[in-house]
Amino acid sequence: MTTALITGASAGLGAAFARRLAAEGHDLVLVARDRGRLEATAAQLRAAHGVGVEVLPADLTVPSARALVEWRLSEPGLTPVDVLVNNAGVETDDEFPGALMADLQAEIDLNVTAVLRLTRAALPGMLARDRGSVINVASFAGYLPARGSAYGASKAWVLSFTDTVAASVSDTGVRVIALCAGRIRTGSHERAGRPVGAPGSPLWLDPDDVVEACLRDLRRGRRMCTPGRLYRSVVATLELPRRTLRLLARLAGRSREQQPAAAPAPSLAGAGAGERDRGEHLVA
Ligand SMILES: NC(=O)c1ccc[n+]([C@@H]2O[C@H](COP(=O)([O-])OP(=O)(O)OC[C@H]3O[C@@H](n4cnc5c(N)ncnc54)[C@H](OP(=O)(O)O)[C@@H]3O)[C@@H](O)[C@H]2O)c1
Repeated sequence: MTTALITGASAGLGAAFARRLAAEGHDLVLVARDRGRLEATAAQLRAAHGVGVEVLPADLTVPSARALVEWRLSEPGLTPVDVLVNNAGVETDDEFPGALMADLQAEIDLNVTAVLRLTRAALPGMLARDRGSVINVASFAGYLPARGSAYGASKAWVLSFTDTVAASVSDTGVRVIALCAGRIRTGSHERAGRPVGAPGSPLWLDPDDVVEACLRDLRRGRRMCTPGRLYRSVVATLELPRRTLRLLARLAGRSREQQPAAAPAPSLAGAGAGERDRGEHLVA
């Protein structure tokens, strides 16, 4: 039995991750601010799938509350978390010059700082066990040179961060993937009063389809998932230079390993890597 911790699990894409992972038999730890909505989601999932579900109410923009989630991820005396889904994220609609400083800061605290800190809390245990998965929910907005707040920049950071961490753990049993989705029908656009595309529009994705694509790509060992044909073709073009750079970085890393080591290479957890099983499952 494996355990998955999902942030922003009470609505939208996070709830879709929770449904899918519960259906696959994972026990869950659900994180969001509203305890009532979390308890309701947990009760539905327990009844539908018979899995164990913990609720962990926390505002991830508040350091003391975030520390509780970091503790849940890193405390060796608790059931280990094998899959971390860094999903909770927020977009401020106001444009940068007029946006409230508090809203911009919250965007960075949730979309960047929480992702950084929860990943850092989860990885040492995963590396010590030589298995685990981290899913970082980025966005197609991370590529867009568009007007707006700090949202696009925060999601560009998630893409870059995921690349770095995935490279750092590439010779271990831990997998890291960025989910780079376009517009998803999660209800968040309606709540913000933004227009939502007509059914069948290639620009609008279904949350369950997005989750399915992400878990499939994670099982295939990919570092990035871009659901939807239209978004995939644009991102494939944009990613060409980065794929080349990734290859060069790997080659450079290899040639460094061939030289006599003056000092041990820094590692996230110092865990030794055993034989890899790259089979079709979530937790490597
Ligand atoms: N919808 C899209 O078109 C789209 C496209 C690409 C990427 N994404 C990304 O997908 C992720 C989920 O988006 P969504 O549309 O599903 O959002 P959503 O429907 O608004 O759901 C957000 C979830 O996050 C929780 N949450 C919000 N602020 C929080 C905080 N400060 N601390 C802890 N939990 C918090 C919410 O619960 P509480 O309110 O109870 O805290 C809720 O469970 C985000 O990272 C978003 O950037 C969305």
